[in-house]
Amino acid sequence: ARPANASTPMLGFKAVPISEADTIVVPEGYTARVLIPWGEPNSGSFPRYSLKNTGAEQGMQVGQHHDGMHFFPIEGNSPYEGSSVDGLLVVNHEYVEPRYTHVAAVGQALGPDGFPKKEDGTRETDQVLKEMNGHGVSITRISRQPDGSWNVVRDPRNRRITALTPMEIQGPVRGSNLIKTKYSPDGTRTRGTINNCAHGVTPWNTYLTCEENWARYFLNNDEDVPRDHERYGVSTDTSRYGWELADSKADEYIRFGASASGASATEDYRNEPNTFGWVVEIDPFNPNSTPVKHTYLGRFAHEGIVFQQPVEGQPIVCYSGDDARFEYIYKYVSAQPYNQATASGALLNDGTLYVARFNEDGTGNWLALKFGENGLTPENGFQDQADVLVNTRTAADFVGATKMDRPEWGAIDPRNGNVYFTLTNNSNRESGQVDAANPRPENDWGHIIRWSEAGKNPTATSFQWDIFVLAGPEDDSRKLSGRPLNADNIFVNPDGLWFDADARLWIQTDIGESSQNQGEFAQFGNNQMLAADADTGEIRRFLTGPIGQEITGVVTTPDQRTMFINVQHPGATTPEEEFAAGNVNSRWPNQNPEIYPRSATVVITKDDGGVIGT
Ligand code: FEO
Ligand code: CA
Ligand code: CA
Ligand code: CA
Repeated sequence: ARPANASTPMLGFKAVPISEADTIVVPEGYTARVLIPWGEPNSGSFPRYSLKNTGAEQGMQVGQHHDGMHFFPIEGNSPYEGSSVDGLLVVNHEYVEPRYTHVAAVGQALGPDGFPKKEDGTRETDQVLKEMNGHGVSITRISRQPDGSWNVVRDPRNRRITALTPMEIQGPVRGSNLIKTKYSPDGTRTRGTINNCAHGVTPWNTYLTCEENWARYFLNNDEDVPRDHERYGVSTDTSRYGWELADSKADEYIRFGASASGASATEDYRNEPNTFGWVVEIDPFNPNSTPVKHTYLGRFAHEGIVFQQPVEGQPIVCYSGDDARFEYIYKYVSAQPYNQATASGALLNDGTLYVARFNEDGTGNWLALKFGENGLTPENGFQDQADVLVNTRTAADFVGATKMDRPEWGAIDPRNGNVYFTLTNNSNRESGQVDAANPRPENDWGHIIRWSEAGKNPTATSFQWDIFVLAGPEDDSRKLSGRPLNADNIFVNPDGLWFDADARLWIQTDIGESSQNQGEFAQFGNNQMLAADADTGEIRRFLTGPIGQEITGVVTTPDQRTMFINVQHPGATTPEEEFAAGNVNSRWPNQNPEIYPRSATVVITKDDGGVIGT
């Protein structure tokens, strides 16, 4: 039985059709409004948005490319209870689009670098600062107005966390030689968080932000690249944004050049990349708190993290996917039991990290990544638990985990603890590489897998799994019923995934920029959000987004009468030559020819004041 609102229908709205329009479409009887677009002032001196904003101003504004998020009711004791009209909206800002960020990029073809460079090959330091401050996390107090719209509230807790914010490192990697740097010779601290994709919410009411595609931000052009760089794809020719080229030569920028150029690790930046790829804990209610990187949750391209309902006296259990082709799904089980009165981030500092093996017969096993077990020994190249964690992917390879089709978000059914994960696509899987859990070669469309832990015990080391939906067009898809998807619900590339309190499963799509509205992908229109009934497998399209974006991030207020979702990278599909000619294919949300497209949060309400989805 559903825990709340059991008398309301699971899917009570009329499906919206696919769309190629530069707007948000929601079902009849619903209203969508834009809140905190990129550049909205949120803290400090609250500088107004302008393309001319400096790097320092960006550090007092909402960042770019909104992704995972959570609404923390303002009273601040529990993540899903409390005020539904006043709270802290905490939003990840995954990355930036330099052409929409700098006055210097207007009307320019930026070429293969994708960012403006000076003639001498360096970068203007303030541009680098603006990009770094466009990354990270924003914490913004918002409150509901009588008409259902929401406003930013100036509050001392409003804060920006960026690619420069000092952070503590906790767990087994703290103090390891692998993370000793010029900045932190004892290996206990680092600066900043980047490529924050999805998120998690701890049972003790803090926010977790997940570092996903951080590796390419670093450059290592040494002849021999160590496995802790190579296995993650640290750049060997050009870094993603060339931050190491800042003309000031200041340490906080040039550290993105991570070659072993000095006499030792504390005289150069070779270990800087090892301080990224983690899950970062932020206490949104304490603006003076130092974010913490929790190394026991593993180092990889963390998409997000999702917790089982905590049980008093039992360990806490959470799951995280590594979003890259042929990477893995992980689970962490704390060593210490959960106690509501004392629970804190310390529960994440000692436990066991497992990686999933999905067997052909529908069973699965959790394989411990524990130093000294499963062959993770010095003879096999692992020196201690810190080494296992810095090289999580290599350890998971070694124990024989199942290589998945890009694990993105996870979600947990609040009624029974069943775990769902999106597998967004994997066009590189060859026919000889398919397995029962990743059953399609050249998986362009993606699927959603789910499992139930043995004995319904989240700490179990085995599970039963099945496929919830194979996404795709009507002639190449399959719902739980065995039937294909149809016009009311065809979708591909599931990414965001979230259960609301009534156990409605919300699915968000991310067709990549190079495929969106092209060829076989055209039939799916712009990226969208759907809702599903996890029991029957029925799926219905709830929302379509503007041009060039992905829909990502979803949460409601505790009363479920306001929903927040994010629109990320509208206009990203504008070809470079069009941009250089002064054209962009989206002006969402301002629809003003003077203003570039901006990622933003969207607030959805039901006109009759009802629960979203009914
Ligand atoms: Fe940032 Fe895997 O999406
Ligand atoms: Ca994502
Ligand atoms: Ca994306
Ligand atoms: Ca994605």
